[in-house]
Amino acid sequence: MKILVVGGGGREHAIIKALKQNPEVTGIVALPGNAGIAADAECVPVKATDIDGIVDYVKSHPVDFAVVAPDDPLALGCVDRLHALGVKCFGPDAKAARIEASKVFAKDLMKKYGIPTAAYETFDDAGRALDYVKTCPIPVVVKADGLALGKGVTICFTRDEADSAVRAAMLDGAFGASGSRVVIEEYLEGPEVSVLAFTDGHVVKPMVSSMDHKRVGDGDVGPNTGGMGTIAPNPCYTPQVAERCMREIFLPTVAAMNAEGCPFKGCLYFGLMVTKDGPKVIEYNCRFGDPETQVVLPLLKSDLLTVMMAVEDETLADTPVEFAEGTACCVMLASGGYPGKYDKGKVIDLGNAEAMAEIFHSGTGRSDKGQLVTAGGRVLGVCCTADNLQTAIERAYRAAAEVRWEGMIYRKDIGKRALGILADSF
Ligand code: AMP
Ligand code: GLY
Repeated sequence: MKILVVGGGGREHAIIKALKQNPEVTGIVALPGNAGIAADAECVPVKATDIDGIVDYVKSHPVDFAVVAPDDPLALGCVDRLHALGVKCFGPDAKAARIEASKVFAKDLMKKYGIPTAAYETFDDAGRALDYVKTCPIPVVVKADGLALGKGVTICFTRDEADSAVRAAMLDGAFGASGSRVVIEEYLEGPEVSVLAFTDGHVVKPMVSSMDHKRVGDGDVGPNTGGMGTIAPNPCYTPQVAERCMREIFLPTVAAMNAEGCPFKGCLYFGLMVTKDGPKVIEYNCRFGDPETQVVLPLLKSDLLTVMMAVEDETLADTPVEFAEGTACCVMLASGGYPGKYDKGKVIDLGNAEAMAEIFHSGTGRSDKGQLVTAGGRVLGVCCTADNLQTAIERAYRAAAEVRWEGMIYRKDIGKRALGILADSF
């Protein structure tokens, strides 16, 4: 079978490595892929957001199955277009992708169907939003409506911060058109859990839970990023919490999407906060998380392609989705300056890291001389699995210490909070 994967980051690298395990797979092409993915798939320089380009490519290079991994092509209707060509796909259509592409859509869905989430107001008028933050309870969270690479959310601990966040999104266009509408919502407290779940619109099969580390700095300080590292499973996601999530959140969300006439098929990502009042939805994503995927898929025992095809064929109920008992840790190595401005083209020395860990490439390229160089904010995910979390973390950090480039940064405390929670539970 020939498989197409749309995207070119660490998540796609992890997906491709998992797809390759299926002996029926004879070839994988990545659009556009990256320098690391090139070791596992043929990379063709068509941007993931160039839907016409993707369609043209598939017309001249037929594939048996397509996986559309990133949010933008999903929101732009890549799956709709590939389906129209008769290509079987993994991923939601554009209507269903609104669950991520519009925070207003997602919040209104949760309100209408009684799915627990933070209380909120929506604004498309900056003056009204600025008036609102003069009196609303503080802290408060200001969110750009549309896609903003995980950076459209500002947690505001003072009224001044809230005022600035509204101005940045609505008046200064900090997130482009994505910020012309904002959701202003209640600040929730509690540990965060990411749960990726396969759903074919009928049943929901959650994957092993994980914990992202979104802030750029150790101890959760500094601006939000796309994610600086992950561990799995997440110790806050106890069987009791999991049972509540299934009953109060996962099944109602799938039913709500069906009731709205936009059944969701693919990987539905639940960003959850376990508050004292129970689990609540912080965000939905219409895709695998990045870097959650880099710890979740290495623990998947079932064949990924089989599961993805069952999602497309709506036979997920009959398809086992099983995970290994172990743990995983992924440390993201990033360019100095990320999530702000950063340099590209720094030569990467991997040392002995590839022998010590699974290295997923997020933002890498080749220089004119053929050297491996940095090509993004998040550059490499260094991932290890082990029987216990402590060992997985130690192994990942030992491998990360092998890697060097000028200006490289990474958090030194990935998994530390999870270890503390585990210690407390004994
Ligand atoms: P999002 O892009 O919606 O995942 O938000 C990014 C991060 O902001 C989340 O992972 C949370 O850490 C934080 N966040 C978002 N919404 C809230 C909220 N209502 N209360 C507290 N923290 C939040
Ligand atoms: N790691 C968060 C996300 O993929 O949105």
